[in-house]
Amino acid sequence: MSEYILEIQNLTKEFPGVRALDNVSLQVKRGEIHSLCGENGAGKSTLMSVVSGVHPKGSYEGKVFYKGRETNYHSVKDSEKEGLTIIHQELALSPYLSIYENIFLGHMKTTYGVINWNYYIKESQKFLDRVGLKENPATIVSKLGVGKQQLVEIARALSKQVELLILDEPTSSLNDEESSKLLDLILEFKRQGITSIMISHKLNEVLKIADAVTVLRDGKSISSYDVKKDGLTEAMIIKDMVGRDLTHRFPERKSRPGETIMEVKHWSVYHPEYHTMKVVDDASFHVRKGEIVAFCGPMGAGRTELMMSLYGQSYGFRSEGELYLHGKRTTLKSARAALTSGLGYVSEDRKTLGLILIQSIKANISASSLKKLSRFGIVAAPREVEEAEKYRRDLRIKTPSINQLVRNLSGGNQQKVVVSRTLLADPEIFIVDEPTRGIDVGAKTEIYEILNNLVAQGKSVVMISSELPEAMGMADRIYVMNEGKIKGELAHDEADQEKIMRIALLD
Ligand SMILES: Nc1ncnc2c1ncn2[C@@H]1O[C@H](COP(=O)(O)OP(=O)(O)OP(=O)(O)O)[C@@H](O)[C@H]1O
Ligand SMILES: [Mg+2]
Repeated sequence: MSEYILEIQNLTKEFPGVRALDNVSLQVKRGEIHSLCGENGAGKSTLMSVVSGVHPKGSYEGKVFYKGRETNYHSVKDSEKEGLTIIHQELALSPYLSIYENIFLGHMKTTYGVINWNYYIKESQKFLDRVGLKENPATIVSKLGVGKQQLVEIARALSKQVELLILDEPTSSLNDEESSKLLDLILEFKRQGITSIMISHKLNEVLKIADAVTVLRDGKSISSYDVKKDGLTEAMIIKDMVGRDLTHRFPERKSRPGETIMEVKHWSVYHPEYHTMKVVDDASFHVRKGEIVAFCGPMGAGRTELMMSLYGQSYGFRSEGELYLHGKRTTLKSARAALTSGLGYVSEDRKTLGLILIQSIKANISASSLKKLSRFGIVAAPREVEEAEKYRRDLRIKTPSINQLVRNLSGGNQQKVVVSRTLLADPEIFIVDEPTRGIDVGAKTEIYEILNNLVAQGKSVVMISSELPEAMGMADRIYVMNEGKIKGELAHDEADQEKIMRIALLD
């Protein structure tokens, strides 16, 4: 038996106008954890889609060997039958089905045409135990947070006797605690003999668990390392990813906050379904001109709910409290009203709230600025193109054309389109919710520079971030939230990880 469970030889994959993969080779040893790193659009997800049969045989050149045999997959079903499972960047569960239905969907057996539901409920419990998810198997998946949904996907993989597990940015929507649990789980799988390939932009996590790392750049395989033998460091990976050294992850900025531009007093938000339940409880804070304010706290602390409800009641059954903009009491009844009052929102969930996937990059970027781009009620096409081209350049959106559908962009490049759209709308106060999720290290720095420029022009940024180093590196002040409440506030100079955690846990 070969030492390699997976071997990719000279793989080339083209889409109209894009060579996504260019003569890529990769070897993954049986039983190891292998990480794939690379900038947004480098070709990581595409490579794994080829391996798992999402892109069928015949749509690419080159060879893929799995367990010593050349593969001939026409769909994901074919690879799953052989113990190869991929968990995609965007989760793929059926939200309105239960946990156990999701686990066994598509591979339930029937006796005389009847499915034995009780059997599957019991069976699913075994897999939930293995991934450490303490939920009733009959729970509807949409009621679970992203972290738990991720675990359901993995339980589903286990139920199919997985031998090679491919995880595409599994921790990008998870908080520190959930991430570290997931990484432990991958290590546990390794002890059980399961091979994993993990795509990730979080290089510290990569170095924590990977045995081997392969770096892709512009569709080419640049380097492969044995983490221990080669003494691999983050700097080495970054250098291969971007082709140069990257020194300042958080660009320097002199901050000169001015007068208070936004003030929120005693803001409470009620759950959209359970109308008496408070998701945000009596939150008060303020934001000054020329200031970056970060909101930290664990997943479910209520940060997104707070901001979305302030943003024209975009979340919640109802809210109460006072909002002041420029010292004037205001009520914003809709997202549109918020936008006209100078608020902009970059949403954390680019799929459901941010982007129209079946429209072009250009249309998505201009969507919040149609008025500005119009004369006499008609959108001026040349200006629309000009602006879209500008953001494509500034944020290095990787695409052959701004007329490309957003659906065809890599995950990180979709996120850049969301950011572009809000930048073009040019609000006074930018609310950015996890603005760098899924974005590579180089492009992160570009986004940080853009945010710094905004505050230098006297605009304000409210940032929700689950990455504490990012919040601490960028913000003038940090509010710490937990369980729907603002638990405390720290200035830039006094903030450290421990203090933030301690405040989050205060009674
Ligand atoms: N269906 C498609 N049609 C056209 N182009 C595509 C399609 N899928 C991917 N691409 C292009 O192929 C390239 C590689 O994309 P891929 O999604 O593999 O990148 P990635 O390395 O996973 O990036 P990220 O870190 O942002 O997720 C990108 O330029 C992308 O726009
Ligand atoms: Mg990807």
